Amino acid sequence: MHILIVDDDPLQRNLLAGFLIKQGYTVTEAATGEETIRSFRQLPVDLVLLDHRLPDRNGDEILAELKRINPLVRVIMITAYGAVDTAVRVMQLGADDFLEKPVDLTQLLQHIQTVEEGLYIAADVAEVEKAINTSDLPVRIVAASPAMQQVLSLVMRAAASPWTVLIQGETGTGKELIARLLHLLSPRKSGPFIPINCAAIPEGLFESELFGHEKGAFTGAGGRRRGVFEQAHQGSLLLDEVGELPLAVQAKLLRTLQERSVQRVGGEQLVPVDVRVLAATNRDLKQMAIDGTFREDLYFRLNVITIDIPPLRQRKEDIPALVHFFLNKYHSKAVIDDQAMSQLTKYSFPGNIRELEHILQRTITFARSPVIGLRDLPAEVRTLQNQAVEGSLNARLTEVERQMIIEALDRSGWVQTRAAESLGISERVLRYKMEKLGIEKKG
Ligand SMILES: Nc1ncnc2c1ncn2[C@@H]1O[C@H](COP(=O)(O)OP(=O)(O)OP(=O)(O)O)[C@@H](O)[C@H]1O
Ligand SMILES: [Mg+2]
Repeated sequence: MHILIVDDDPLQRNLLAGFLIKQGYTVTEAATGEETIRSFRQLPVDLVLLDHRLPDRNGDEILAELKRINPLVRVIMITAYGAVDTAVRVMQLGADDFLEKPVDLTQLLQHIQTVEEGLYIAADVAEVEKAINTSDLPVRIVAASPAMQQVLSLVMRAAASPWTVLIQGETGTGKELIARLLHLLSPRKSGPFIPINCAAIPEGLFESELFGHEKGAFTGAGGRRRGVFEQAHQGSLLLDEVGELPLAVQAKLLRTLQERSVQRVGGEQLVPVDVRVLAATNRDLKQMAIDGTFREDLYFRLNVITIDIPPLRQRKEDIPALVHFFLNKYHSKAVIDDQAMSQLTKYSFPGNIRELEHILQRTITFARSPVIGLRDLPAEVRTLQNQAVEGSLNARLTEVERQMIIEALDRSGWVQTRAAESLGISERVLRYKMEKLGIEKKG
């Protein structure tokens, strides 16, 4: 939990900060109302300890402004000894609790713990109370399973806040869909939503894609170009496959996030940008941070709120609903018989929802009667083997790609640089494809 301590008296501030840091909390300090609001806008604060008497602004006013910026924030007001009327008023204004000066540290800790528990309970209650009605959402999404209901509940709570969200999940689990939903439920919904796939940016063009460039900044640069940060001004930017960013670009990205402005390649001035950043990845960024292939400070910057989307095989309750969803999407009048449906729920869907969608497209196209049975399902589902061996052009091509990559890796003793070279692709693209196709070294 991140706590912002607001007090104009440095001694009092240090005392509280020292104590709370020892208790394991993340702490930021502010001495004035202005500093409070500035820090609050920049940091993912959960709780504010607010001294009611500040030199520059009134505590009531600051409380109201904090709640306006983030209605989910908790505030404990610190009031003068015996100032009962103040205490009553701040509670009415939405403070969660108050303490009188001089602050008793044991008591403070108890109050903080109560707020902390309340945060978790509030989240649970919201989840249990109302199953989220997906037809009210601004995107079409299936969430029949408790796991997806939980994801949506988190999305709804996170959407209103200004913080960065890291969306994690295997390929095809719906990361981009969730990012779109976060944007559409946010106060920025009428601004642009710009997704960029970091894995698809050609080597050497990262900076120009993200931050833009000035006319003639490098060979072939042509005229001035706005990067995705500028394009997403007043909206949301989805950095998809963010784990694919080279370290040098990660450093510049971190700077951009901290300074809320970009410097175009070949440009001098800083261009301010107002962008909410969403990031998605199917890699284990935390592990990458430990291994040193992803900047730790950037990881923490991006990971203010994490949304984990579970793979489809861990939320099989969604499968029947998704089957109907996609039949409907393709205007199919076909009916799936019980045997076929039961077989579909047994399959593990390594490609998750995207794979389910492709399987249904194929099945609808090739079905021999309006009632789809076992025999109409693709071989991998019928035999419960995870490889696509027959079917559409795309499925066949994917399979050929997978075979070629595995062969090249085998030939090179799984040295990725050499395998990539023999395939005529960059190592980065190879890693991306391995990830996408679920290719891992065995044993
Ligand atoms: N819960 C859901 N309900 C309905 N459709 C979904 C759901 N989740 C994903 N989809 C659909 O499945 C497809 C894949 O989703 P999406 O592109 O968001 O996945 P992803 O996690 O970004 O995949 P990748 O890692 O390959 O980029 C899209 O067509 C999306 O609309
Ligand atoms: Mg995606």
